Amino acid sequence: MPDFRQLLNALDTHGELLRVSRTVDRQFELPALLKQAEQRRKAILFSSVADSPFPVAGGLLTGGARFATALGRQPAAGYGVEEHRADVSRALAAPLSTIQVDDAPCQQVKAAVAGSNGASVDCDALPVPTCFEGDTGPFLTAAAGISRNPDNGVINAGIYRVLMLGGDRMVVSIGPGSDLLRFLATNRAAGKPTEVAFVIGANPAVLMAAAAKVPAEISELDVAGALIGEPLPVTAAEQLDLPVPADSEFVLETVIEGDEVMPNVMGEFGDLYGGRDGPVARAVALTHRREPVFHTIMAGAGKEHNSLGMIILYAIEPELRESLRSSHPDVTDVCVVFEPPKMGMTGEVRVQLRRGSTVDGEALVRHVLGLRAGGYDLARVLRKVVLVDDDVDVSRSADVTWAINNRALSTDRFIFIDDLPLPGVGLRRGIDTRVAEADYEALQRLVIPGSEAVLLDDYLD
Ligand SMILES: Cc1cc2nc3c(=O)[nH]c(=O)nc-3n(C[C@H](O)[C@H](O)[C@H](O)COP(=O)(O)O)c2cc1C
Repeated sequence: MPDFRQLLNALDTHGELLRVSRTVDRQFELPALLKQAEQRRKAILFSSVADSPFPVAGGLLTGGARFATALGRQPAAGYGVEEHRADVSRALAAPLSTIQVDDAPCQQVKAAVAGSNGASVDCDALPVPTCFEGDTGPFLTAAAGISRNPDNGVINAGIYRVLMLGGDRMVVSIGPGSDLLRFLATNRAAGKPTEVAFVIGANPAVLMAAAAKVPAEISELDVAGALIGEPLPVTAAEQLDLPVPADSEFVLETVIEGDEVMPNVMGEFGDLYGGRDGPVARAVALTHRREPVFHTIMAGAGKEHNSLGMIILYAIEPELRESLRSSHPDVTDVCVVFEPPKMGMTGEVRVQLRRGSTVDGEALVRHVLGLRAGGYDLARVLRKVVLVDDDVDVSRSADVTWAINNRALSTDRFIFIDDLPLPGVGLRRGIDTRVAEADYEALQRLVIPGSEAVLLDDYLD
């Protein structure tokens, strides 16, 4: 089964893993180097981090071929967002139940367990980096938080950044739309604590499933199993009523009790600071493998951060296509792109309509921006809506740019909308490239009849 260590080994074998043995500081120095490694399209392993006995790896799951390698897909070349999106959607349709194992590697070393080898669990030895000047402090960035849905008992996982406060205290950054926030509210109302086990360096499929929007009745751990094609081995956490992936490098078991919240600010997807108040959690156990490797994800515009972040958006396109096809029968195709693949309110939606459709352009653009799909208000994650005729392939950026350059030839084709009723959402744009019937001949595309069936490979000597 492919796992975190195998991914590191595979990257090493393929010459994609840089190694730094010089001691680095986890505050700013390590992130500065990690950022440069990502820019060179390399993963990086720091074997010596000041004030920590643990090595740190980053820049691993940077999309495409790296996702393929992590999931054991062959060949890795040619595997991109579309292939991964299809894999995730197949895994959601046919999740695989986890398998329980004893003697799990993730509990080979019981570094600290509350009430056994100490009154509290000290997390300060973890090599948690501080990435940016304005960050409130050091954050876990590659931890999948495992919790239990109090409504149906199903195991949930999400990636949540965790601000380390020192000792056994930390702040969990939980976004407004996340399931964990709902669990917290339900548990609080019932006067119960919320247990969250943060796993670092688990099978990469766990991070992928944790990033995805998964319905409440399906466990992300079962989706991870389906992604790797076999049940994910799990073991019981030391102090919590939760299963944790058995091959995780580290497991940090925590409990959120009471109502205390603290602010935390850190570098976000769109290369801007973001922050919110988060609940304070207390560590109750810290276990790890022998000679564990700590995974960290470069925050902000980092490639690993954004490639995994794109998974959150996978559900938008299919839901939007279905919604538009039923509300507007003239819609023939829909494509949502984030270019360069980047999460963070920079998306564009392209809507293809049957030639000659008389749908009002501005009304359609406003309709799209007013929808919710994949768990998002679209106006929050999309900047631009482009309407095209059905001779323009919405999945090809070059085609859409051609249509904008050649068919949106008057100012009334550019639609500016700055009065959407969503707080904090500024200017959004629409471009209507559809051609009036009278202009079609002059603006038609160049076509080689029958060219789809004439393939160069069939002709080569
Ligand atoms: C690298 C990365 C970091 C993320 N950080 C956070 C975070 O700090 N807080 C948060 O609520 N969501 C974060 N997300 C998004 C959630 O992991 C994602 O929305 C997930 O589906 C939430 O799970 P839940 O709805 O089951 O709680 C992050 C995603 C990625 C890929």
